[in-house]
This record gives sequence, C-alpha cells and structure tokens, in this order.
Amino acid sequence: MADKQKSESKRGGFGSKLGFILAAAGSAVGLGNIWRFPYLAAKYGGGFFLLVYLIFAVTFGFSLMLTEIAIGRRTGKSVVGAYREVHKGFAGLGWLAMIIPALILPYYCVIGGWVLKYMVTFLTGGGADAATATYQTADPGVTLNFFTNFISHVGEPTGYFIIYVLLGAVVVMLGVEKGIEKVSKFLMPVLFLLIVAIAVYTLTLDGAGAGVKYYLLPDFTDFSAGKLFKTVAAAVGQLFYSMSIAMGIMVTYGSYMRKDDPLESSVRNIEVFDTAVAFLAGLIIVPAVFIFSNGDAEALNKGPSLMFVTMPQVFRTMPAGQVIGALFFILVTLAALTSSISLMEVVTAVVIEKFRVKRMWASVIVIVITLLLGLLSVFGYSIWSDVTLMKMQILDFFDFITNNIMMPILAFLTCIMIGYVVKTKYVEDEVLFGEDRFRSVKMYRIMIKFICPVCMILILLTPFITDI
Ligand code: PHE
Repeated sequence: MADKQKSESKRGGFGSKLGFILAAAGSAVGLGNIWRFPYLAAKYGGGFFLLVYLIFAVTFGFSLMLTEIAIGRRTGKSVVGAYREVHKGFAGLGWLAMIIPALILPYYCVIGGWVLKYMVTFLTGGGADAATATYQTADPGVTLNFFTNFISHVGEPTGYFIIYVLLGAVVVMLGVEKGIEKVSKFLMPVLFLLIVAIAVYTLTLDGAGAGVKYYLLPDFTDFSAGKLFKTVAAAVGQLFYSMSIAMGIMVTYGSYMRKDDPLESSVRNIEVFDTAVAFLAGLIIVPAVFIFSNGDAEALNKGPSLMFVTMPQVFRTMPAGQVIGALFFILVTLAALTSSISLMEVVTAVVIEKFRVKRMWASVIVIVITLLLGLLSVFGYSIWSDVTLMKMQILDFFDFITNNIMMPILAFLTCIMIGYVVKTKYVEDEVLFGEDRFRSVKMYRIMIKFICPVCMILILLTPFITDI
C-alpha cells in the first residue's frame, strides 16, 4: 500500500478541479473549434446545424467524454495500462489509443507551425502581404499565393514546425501540475477573453447582421431526409473531434484527476466551454466572411484554406484589421498549442509507464518520433508533393486514417466494452464516487449501449455514402 501511494504521488496529477477542467478544455478547444466548426455550420444550414450539434453535444459528446474520463480516473493509468485493467480482452484498445495521438501529433504540429507563421507575420506588420502576395513559379501557368508558396518550401515550414513542437514539449516536460495545469489556467481565460473581444468587434461592423442571421437562423428550404442525415453525420463527426474523444486524451487526463472532484459536473463544464468557443468562433468568422464576400455563401465553403487564405483577405478589408488579425492568430496559436500538449501527454505517459523512464527522457523520445513523422507531412506538401497515399497528400492521409477510421473504431469498441462487457456500472460507480447522484444516468446508458455505437458506424460509413 505504501508503495502504491508512493508511485501514485510520483506520477503527479492535477492540483485543482478548475485546473483539470481548464486543461481538458484546453485540449478540446483547438483548430476544430475555430475553423472547422464555423465553416460546417455555414455549410449545413446555419441554425439547423447549431441545433443538431447542441443536442448531440449534451447527449452523445457528454456520454463519451464521461466514459473516457471515468476509465482514466478509475484505473489511474496511462491508456495502455488503463484499457487492460478495464478488461484484458480489450487490452489492444490501449495501444490503439496510443497510436492515434502518436500519428495525429506530428501533422497537428505541422499545422500549428503554419499558424505560428501567420501569427508572426501579422505581429510584424505583414498581414497585408498574407492577403495579397503572389509568387510566380518556374512553370509560367502556375502562380502561388502567400499560403501555397509558404507550404511549398521546406525550410520555413520545418523551422516553424520544430519551434512549435519544442514549445509544447517544454510544457509537457514540466509535468502535469507545474506544466499543463499552470499553462492552461493562464492561457484558457486569455483565449476566452480574446475570442469574446474579437466577436464583439466583428458584430459592430457594418453589414454584420446579415451574416449573423445566416449563421443563426435555420434554413429549411429544400429540407429532406438526405439533408438531415448529412447534417447529423457532420455534427457527430465534428463533435467527436472537437471534444478530443477517442484520442486517449480524456483517459490520460482523467487518470490525473483528483478522486474527490465531481466527475459529472466537470464534464458538463468542459463541454460548455468547448461549445461556447466554437459558437463564438462562428460569430466572428461567418459574419466577417459574409461582409467580405457580399453574402456569397461559396466563400464560406472553403475548408482549410478559409483560415489561411480567406481570413487574411477579410482582415485586410476590415477597419483595424491588422490588429484584429494579429489577435486572431494569437488566439488560434494558443488554442492549437494546448491541444497538441494534450496529444503529447498521452504518448509521454505511456512511455513513462511502460519503459519506466523519467518524464524528461520520455518527452525526448516523443519529440524525436514527432519530428521524424512530422517531416513526412512537411515534405508531402513540398519536395514530395508527387507522393500520394490512397490518392491523398501525406498530411491528409494521416488525418484521414486517424479521424475517419481509427478513432470511430476505438470509440465503437469502447462503447461495446463498457455497454455490454463490463457494463455501464463500471463508469456509474466512478461517477458516484463521493457524489450522491448521477443525474444523467438513464440517458448515459442509452447513449453508450445504443446511440453512440450506431453513430460510430455512421461515421465509418460516411466516406462511402456522401452522394445520397
Ligand atoms: N479538439 C481539438 C479541436 O477541436 C482537436 C484535437 C485535440 C486535435 C487534440 C488533436 C489533439 O481542434
């Protein structure tokens, strides 16, 4: 017993309830909230998507996040040890839950490096350049814009990528309480203030009203079963990613959570924070792009390039746009940084536990692997741009196999394990630890046994049924 206590105290953990909530929210709030959510909301009928998203957030997202945090806290182990302890037959899931973040981390940091580049560009007064610069290539037919020119090189993207990885690594090396918790407690409130300030400013711009209307009011014209299906699939997919589910993160963070803090209300808080940031990001981006493009919805359907190409153009035309642009990219950098820290922690925790090495050395191992794998993604957009895997660039390929295949499989099997093998009581007991009730228990059971597994199958199938 004394030994166990010793090893537990050595492992470290969050020092307060607020610290835990803000660290988990730091993981959840990321690029997904800031560029992906607004653009999906705009694409799938504004208010209607918001409504579907909210319903799923408080039911589906809540149940999955609660499950992962409960598994982590009950076992007190890194993902590999945790899944094995829940059920030996599902031990393989622990490895899957480590491989997923190990594969996402490198390319997420490459994108983090891009964001860092934009932050530096705006802070050094180059925002206008980011909006308008063009570059002629050796091929007379091809001109590049600021973004495509930047990623087509090796040197700069590699440099920013390395700096970005090291920034996150320093925090992880400092440990859970002194590193992750401290940084999140400072950065998350800053991030929230920034996003509120930028949103308020955007709403005062001439013509913002039409964009807000488009974003908030449901559009039921040509409503059909197919449209409903697609909206639900998009909302579920987004939610899953946005709440950092099935990446081993919530299990790992849960393992550092204090036993006497309430689980259910903590999960609710994380969920509200994550959804609020996504909603506010939409209030910034949708009206801003709407004004810029004179209401042309096409402009909102740009996907990844929305943030790197369209937003700088929007800032260029906006009064005080350079300042707002700089603040915006600081915001995105902070959001992405706390997410990559959480990915790094999952893998580091496994290395510490399995190889019994000090945190510092475990971090070094993770950094080396991340740098090597990340370079593949950097090269994939530059010197190896001809290389494709399943018709995708290297970065897009890593994104696809993790998000569309491995994560839904992990979440599906986790639901089966909890819902049918060890039974939901496993989680319920952990929620009830030190609490007198589990308010949403009925809904929780239905979600884990029926709705969540079906939604996971839906996500796995969507790449094949997008044409309905
Ligand atoms: N939840 C993050 C987001 O919304 C996604 C993410 C988290 C990705 C952690 C990687 C690691 O952007």
